[in-house]
Amino acid sequence: MNYLEALSRRYSVKKFNKEIIPQETLHNILESGKLSASSLGLQPYKILIVESEEMKQKLIPAFYNPSQISTCSHLIVIISKKTIDESYIRGYFNHISEVRDIPLENLDLFKKSINQHIVQKSQDEIFNWAEKQSYIVLANLMYAAAIENIDTCPMEGFREDMIEKILGINPETEKVTVTLAIGYRSEEDAFQYMKKVRKPNEKLFKFI
Ligand SMILES: Cc1cc2nc3c(=O)[nH]c(=O)nc-3n(C[C@H](O)[C@H](O)[C@H](O)COP(=O)(O)O)c2cc1C
Repeated sequence: MNYLEALSRRYSVKKFNKEIIPQETLHNILESGKLSASSLGLQPYKILIVESEEMKQKLIPAFYNPSQISTCSHLIVIISKKTIDESYIRGYFNHISEVRDIPLENLDLFKKSINQHIVQKSQDEIFNWAEKQSYIVLANLMYAAAIENIDTCPMEGFREDMIEKILGINPETEKVTVTLAIGYRSEEDAFQYMKKVRKPNEKLFKFI
């Protein structure tokens, strides 16, 4: 299946068939999230993977469309950071230094410019910036899944306060941005048989 075929086959599933995705396939999909590009490379997010049936059941009341949660194989929850402090940036640079075997001093200029860039942002700006990065992760996970023949439904229709409570997320420092239910489409899901509704090219694209 090529890229466009995978994207055309993809649709937002309303009901999965409850089958569990093989571990290796799940691993490949998650790697695509890990390989996502992020502004300054700071990856201001965390990716939670809900695999326990018990936890899925607990989360059902938090969703406005619960049918995906009760039938999916896994629920991926993308959490965006609300704050970036100096210790987070220090950790990032220690990691670069270790992975690339570069002395920390050689990264000083880059570190200074990142510190300046981040420090001048308000908390709202940090959070808006972090959320944008989270949606890149969402898109990569969704399309990697499509190529692996795994179905998905991106979901923003939830009560974030409920999810945060259930998953033990600290709302002072983090926020649930978006979730992705993954699994296999149920034959009963009528949406898979519907045509895609998209703007015509002349309304969507403009060549200049
Ligand atoms: C960020 C985002 C959030 C979404 N939230 C929901 C949701 O909460 N519930 C749902 O059933 N579909 C949700 N959708 C699916 C959209 O309704 C769907 O992508 C759109 O109607 C196009 O249909 P298609 O994905 O089947 O091609 C969401 C999609 C995106 C990208």
